[in-house]
Amino acid sequence: MDSILVTGNGPLNGQIPIAGAKNACLTLMPATLLSDEPLTLTNAPRLSDIKTMTALLQSLGAEVSSLQDGQVIAMSSHDLTSQTADYDIVRKMRASNLVLGPLLARFGQAVVSLPGGCAIGARPMDLHVEGLEALGAEIELKDGYLHAKAPGGLKGAVHEMRFASVGATENIVMAATLAKGTTVLKNAAREPEIVDLVECLRKMGAQISGEGSSTIEIQGVDRLHGATHQVVTDRIELGTYMLAPAICGGEVELLGGRMSLVASFAEKLEAAGVSVTETANGLMVARKNGRVRSVDVVTEPFPGFPTDLQAQMMALMCTAEGVSVLEERIFENRFMHAPELVRMGANIEVHGGTATVTGVERLKGAPVMATDLRASVSLILAGLAAEGETTVSRVYHLDRGYEHVVRKLEGVGAKIERIKGQ
Ligand code: EPZ
Repeated sequence: MDSILVTGNGPLNGQIPIAGAKNACLTLMPATLLSDEPLTLTNAPRLSDIKTMTALLQSLGAEVSSLQDGQVIAMSSHDLTSQTADYDIVRKMRASNLVLGPLLARFGQAVVSLPGGCAIGARPMDLHVEGLEALGAEIELKDGYLHAKAPGGLKGAVHEMRFASVGATENIVMAATLAKGTTVLKNAAREPEIVDLVECLRKMGAQISGEGSSTIEIQGVDRLHGATHQVVTDRIELGTYMLAPAICGGEVELLGGRMSLVASFAEKLEAAGVSVTETANGLMVARKNGRVRSVDVVTEPFPGFPTDLQAQMMALMCTAEGVSVLEERIFENRFMHAPELVRMGANIEVHGGTATVTGVERLKGAPVMATDLRASVSLILAGLAAEGETTVSRVYHLDRGYEHVVRKLEGVGAKIERIKGQ
């Protein structure tokens, strides 16, 4: 397995291009199942999760081609051969469950493996099931698979979700586009990736309004046609790289960044003493001198502080002046990066869903292990500012959500290299 070697190397300066959003692409790709006409995505990120979703769609009989070095994904699900998403693919990537709604809507049946737990939590699918059942689906769990059917087609309904689940919102909205009648989804998730999905579905002929608010209304249509859609900028990659100049000092422009994608996160960075300003090409982030100040963080559904930036923010707080309390309210086990940061000299106490970080002057490089996607990049950020060398192992986690990390960070002056595993 490869590892990444990072050596603390002072302030960072320059530009980092931000790619298309992994979590938008992973819901846009299954949308191809809703139509028998081609769907093409541009500005797609080059990530292993995208390859996994490609394999899943191909296992259903869809044609998926990756063009222009992976930045364009051309898909067609005119001739599907299966409506079953196998465990061996779904267990690798939970987002595979996003084929459930589209398959049910187009074919009236779907068999999708439950994803099983992952490092950060149990990750059940009860909110997906409740929403699809509200549209008239009959779903039963058998041998670890959800067997869903809607023989007479799905029917529009008013449904309020118990929690604003991102994936459940995406599955329900995609299913509702082809249901008979109107669906009103209440307490819907408001993430930018959902807005991006709706914009693409609308290009395919869907009748949807309210995206980005807590109430989304969908008028079912008989069929959807093909489209071409540009994937929205990845706000989590954006936030991650905004932390690089914050933790190292210096000034970095994040190309393609927009304040609207990271407003609550940028607010926290400003409170910590980091300046964030919009430029014609993106966001400029600068920390001139002195240590950042400790700030408290509570993770919430959008537009609150994103759970996917909690691990990265913790790395910054490890070197801040003061005490920071980070509360993780979305996932039950998302502090696995903490013990690894402690190995680097951080002072962190974890009690249940709360981590208390007392900042130290400087972290010390050490061998550490990535445990999940966002933890992996949190350790790299810590290594960028630490004294000496940090080796992050198990970087296959990193490859799921960050393209060309070494190249992007080297480009602003970081001392970082990828070490091929034996
Ligand atoms: C999406 O996951 C993202 N993944 C996650 O990003 C992100 O952390 C999460 O939303 C929250 O923002 C993709 O978009 C592919 P949820 P999702 O349904 O849809 C519980 C990353 O690092 N829940 O909003 O799975 C669930 O257990 C990944 O890129 C239920 O209880 O998130 C969790 O505690 C990690 N029942 C909470 O809700 C359900 O039926 C949030 O889950 C569904 C979810």
